[in-house]
Amino acid sequence: MGNREKWNGKYRDVERKVNMHPPEFLISHADEVLQMLPERPRVLDLAAGAGRNSIFLAERGCHVLAVDFALEGLRRCMRQAAMRGLRVQTISADLETFVFPTQRYDLLVNFFFLQREIFPAIANALNPGGLLMFETYTSRYQAVHKGRSMRREYLLEPGELQASFPGLITLFQEETAVTDRLIAQKPGVIL
Ligand SMILES: C[S@@+](CC[C@H](N)C(=O)[O-])C[C@H]1O[C@@H](n2cnc3c(N)ncnc32)[C@H](O)[C@@H]1O
Repeated sequence: MGNREKWNGKYRDVERKVNMHPPEFLISHADEVLQMLPERPRVLDLAAGAGRNSIFLAERGCHVLAVDFALEGLRRCMRQAAMRGLRVQTISADLETFVFPTQRYDLLVNFFFLQREIFPAIANALNPGGLLMFETYTSRYQAVHKGRSMRREYLLEPGELQASFPGLITLFQEETAVTDRLIAQKPGVIL
């Protein structure tokens, strides 16, 4: 989704403000999600960017692995984490070729990133009882933000998100003006 150098350039530019405020969806559902998981849950933050979601979850006791192909974003993430006395593990990798482990994570977060080919690997990487939190833009984005264009392949179609994870149980779904949100659980018992 996009070009690695473009993203690196964005994160490298110290003049450029990167939004470190987590999305409202994550903030408002974090407590109920974390209550369902073991203590110090293992979290995978996909396309973590500068790590706003990783840091938010590390602050709440999660053991977070942030993956992104833009190393400069991950550097920002590590600096921010260190300033707060937190630890976030990072891997710079292209998610198109990343080898996902099987049944490793209690929580997987995917915010504002859409790579349809990895949906089966995402579901597979969850532990039994593990949760997926997903939010990204839908095709409604174009109607709302008329001046800005976003490539169609990066936008969800109506109903697509939930249908993409047939092996998971939907706990929550919501359409906002420009995004779809999903919390879904892998069947099974959390150990
Ligand atoms: C819109 S940003 C979202 C960042 C973060 N999830 C957040 O909510 O702040 C999209 C991120 O996807 C990353 N990205 C795009 N394509 C990627 C790929 N193929 N592999 C890994 N990361 C990718 C970019 O580097 C960028 O950090």
